[in-house]
Amino acid sequence: MRKKIIAGNWKMNKNLEEGLALVSEASNMIKDEYNGNAKIVFIPPFIHLNAIAKMLESYPNQFVGAQNCSNHESGAYTGEISTTMIKSCGVNYVVIGHSERRQYFNEHNQWLAQKIDACLKHQLSPIYCCGETLEEREANKHFEVIEKQIGEALFHLHADAMLQVVVAYEPVWAIGTGKTASTAQAQEVHAFIRGIIANKYGKEVADQITIQYGGSVKPENAAELFSAPDIDGALIGGAALQSRSFTDIVKAME
Ligand code: PGA
Repeated sequence: MRKKIIAGNWKMNKNLEEGLALVSEASNMIKDEYNGNAKIVFIPPFIHLNAIAKMLESYPNQFVGAQNCSNHESGAYTGEISTTMIKSCGVNYVVIGHSERRQYFNEHNQWLAQKIDACLKHQLSPIYCCGETLEEREANKHFEVIEKQIGEALFHLHADAMLQVVVAYEPVWAIGTGKTASTAQAQEVHAFIRGIIANKYGKEVADQITIQYGGSVKPENAAELFSAPDIDGALIGGAALQSRSFTDIVKAME
């Protein structure tokens, strides 16, 4: 059975004190209230990573992830953070290609492919984000856009490396807008993504890849989204900034 993963991406929110308080509360609520098997991932800004990884050492199902990494190994890249540095903080996951990074920092698929390689080289699981803009959906180009995003950043990998990748489908029009894709819309794209992975790597590999949905996931819509056969968890923004709403989304996953 493939892994279910619920991840909270804080984006550029929470100072050190606020962040540690949030994890301390949420990790205990989840431990006390959730009996399921999903892996939980806190994805704070870089400054929190090391302290949060230490806090979570005694919580077997809870992990920490970074929001980005450099495609370079080390060197004169002022302001960048490498995957070796991230790994040394006790981190297990790295978000790659979030739409905000594609949009505001011009990250493109070829560059993201290098970041994926940098993660895998240091045993970090990339959470690779893909998804169409509103304009692309209205022009009925969403499948084409997603196929290109997945193909160009992931399909150079061998099957064993591909198995370390988590995919997150995040329609850009649903991120931070309060508009969620309907369960049917999300399931349709998730099945499509699994299908293109199956065409490339075979069904056995595709069936093991975790595909998360992201875009205005809330306690009110999580259970319905999670009931779809190809939705294996969520990448949550806004609702991950409060322990109660994050825990309630986690509890919606069997
Ligand atoms: P949102 O963000 O839940 O606030 O829509 C999702 C994301 O950007 O991962």
